[in-house]
Amino acid sequence: MNIIYHKSSKTFHLFNDEISYIMIIMQNGHLGQLYFGKRIHDKEDFSYLLEVSQRPMGSYVFEGDRTFSLEYLKQEYPVYGSTDYRHPAVEILQSNGSRISDFKFQSYVIEHGKPKLEGLPATYTEDDSEAETLIVDLLDEVTGIRIQLLYTIFASGGIIARSSRFYNEGDEAVHLLQAMSLSLDLPDYDYEWVQLSGAWSRERHVKVRRLEQGIQAVDSMRGHSSHEHNPFMVLKRPTADEHQGEVIGFSLIYSGNFLIQAEVDTHTNSRVLVGINPAGFDWKLDVNESFQTPEAVMVYSGQGLNGMSQTFHRLYQKRLARGYWRDKERPILNNNWEATYFDFTEERLVEIAKKAKECGVELFVLDDGWFGERCNDRAGLGDWVANPKRLANGVVGIAEKIEKLGMKFGLWFEPEMVNKDSNLYREHPDWIISVPGRNKSHGRYQYVLDFSRKEIVDHIYNMMAKILSEAKVSYIKWDMNRSITECFSKELPADRQGEVFHRYILGVYDLYERLTSTFPEVLFESCASGGGRFDPGMLYYAPQGWASDDSDAVERLKIQYGTSFCYPISSIGSHVSVIPNHQVYRNTPLHTRANVAYFGTFGYELDLNKLTENEIHEVKAQINFMKKYRSILQFGTFYRLKSPFEGNETVWMVVSEDKKIAIVGWYRTLNVVNDAYRRVQLKGLNPDYRYKNSLNKTENYGDELMNLGLITTDVTAGEVPSDQKPCTDFESRIYILEAVEQGDWK
Ligand code: DGJ
Repeated sequence: MNIIYHKSSKTFHLFNDEISYIMIIMQNGHLGQLYFGKRIHDKEDFSYLLEVSQRPMGSYVFEGDRTFSLEYLKQEYPVYGSTDYRHPAVEILQSNGSRISDFKFQSYVIEHGKPKLEGLPATYTEDDSEAETLIVDLLDEVTGIRIQLLYTIFASGGIIARSSRFYNEGDEAVHLLQAMSLSLDLPDYDYEWVQLSGAWSRERHVKVRRLEQGIQAVDSMRGHSSHEHNPFMVLKRPTADEHQGEVIGFSLIYSGNFLIQAEVDTHTNSRVLVGINPAGFDWKLDVNESFQTPEAVMVYSGQGLNGMSQTFHRLYQKRLARGYWRDKERPILNNNWEATYFDFTEERLVEIAKKAKECGVELFVLDDGWFGERCNDRAGLGDWVANPKRLANGVVGIAEKIEKLGMKFGLWFEPEMVNKDSNLYREHPDWIISVPGRNKSHGRYQYVLDFSRKEIVDHIYNMMAKILSEAKVSYIKWDMNRSITECFSKELPADRQGEVFHRYILGVYDLYERLTSTFPEVLFESCASGGGRFDPGMLYYAPQGWASDDSDAVERLKIQYGTSFCYPISSIGSHVSVIPNHQVYRNTPLHTRANVAYFGTFGYELDLNKLTENEIHEVKAQINFMKKYRSILQFGTFYRLKSPFEGNETVWMVVSEDKKIAIVGWYRTLNVVNDAYRRVQLKGLNPDYRYKNSLNKTENYGDELMNLGLITTDVTAGEVPSDQKPCTDFESRIYILEAVEQGDWK
């Protein structure tokens, strides 16, 4: 990897074996974008890529010249109100009412490694040789605002991480109205735009459309990244697919209001903007203050969507997630939520836990309802002390009982929220986010604590830390069950109210940081009514997240498939639940529920006492299977092979690092009569290894499996022989392929 500055042509070239990123200091001192894509040779001068021409209706920068217009140029950090009429990366309101700025190149430095972003989650390096960072200084002379643009290129993978820092070195306060993390101008719009969108219980469905002149965007204004849209987007060449072709993935490491937008202009350039949503954002930058934007990550892949996903998986698993649990196999858990909801006693919990232990479960998680007066969702949030009517000896007591059974104990919190019916609210009614004199909207009867205020975060920290210090809690599920409305902080002056959404998320990060550093061995799982805040920001603190409240196996195929575009399998919280399923009332076979949940953190969301003896037998086998293969399932290389968005079958697989073991998950939603003969071409195997197939009882070379394919035909292809079980709807299979020496198979 290298970052080179060519003085004579004023060109920066960042490159590694896979990608090149080229910028130029243009005639007007602004930074111009020349190229982002597959690695090309370095050379002194790429300025021929700066194409300008005289056009009707243009506005030009230099007197007497009718070619140099920012509208026609590809830029790195475009400003509002210049000769460029496209949406900008930066807009700054000044005391005279002007929003015009003119950021000119001043200097640059190249650092080994990657600087930390204070108070914000970001990718990191463990060793300076893993990355290099270019920091470019730009200055607007009139306001004295300095911007640093940070570009980190990693030694491996087509990754560029970007963010910007603002410094007010002038003598008047200004307001940042738009301060994006990344702006990228691409020279054409021959792309499909791929987004992960949906709703509660339908998170991260893959949606694809052609880029077209005008603006297309995904965003959130809810105060969290949201179920509706994930802070992630892909531009994919129409000819690219899962395995080949050019794609660029964009991901924002942020959990609050975001915007990802592409604007295609009249001259077919595509401008991508990624960052904090400017809607409602207004950050007052006083003299001598600075502001750091969240980090955005771009991944270029010439190997299609899977190539891009694998790069994101490695980066986010190894250099975004942190701490004790980062590289560890995740404990198999049993969560009581769908087993009992609010209706439990300590005795019942212990009964569930005992059965779980008997089956081999490693962690018992007590979900909502253990604290304050929380016997339904109208009361208790904010009172993080055990309800003695439910837990006679508090959290200490139940944790001890679970530990005695030989399992770890986990606990649910919803730290950011309060019910009016709580001691916390009765003592501090002014701690919630709301506008004085206006209606206070609720969500699930709860209100959002103003985490932009340090004393409130401190208070919640103290309550949580007390429990974690006294009781043996090994895992925390951190939930967040409503979006923010009437956003306003009573402690901030009028001209800082546009900061509240961002300050709120900084408060959430602060609490996470304090808890994870004080209790480094506690495993955190993020959650927001399922996947309402399943984003890279959360991954920095919590290496896994509850992917969705929808626990139906068929629904989960789409949710987990979409999630895998950006997020590693080790981060996807996935459990086996009861039938009929509580969200869609569907009956799926037990083996299919497990076959889907294996591709994630794995656990059970039910009372195992209610299963039949045969089912318990099956559960024990599932748990043994997961224990045996979870290191590969969670940390192997993941390939999507067949999309649930495109047909009746879904297929995905993981391959171990040494390619000696591959695990294929095959799923068919509806049964098919008299079906065709079917094969699936596998990926990522060693072509020369012979793989023993546990299910088909065959032995095939890797090249056979990757070219001829794995045969998945079953009895639906014809009449069911008397010695075979007929297939039903929601069928699934797991194929284990293990490399063997030739002739080993009996
Ligand atoms: C929403 C979560 O997604 C569920 O798993 C559960 O924890 C409930 N909240 C509890 O209120």
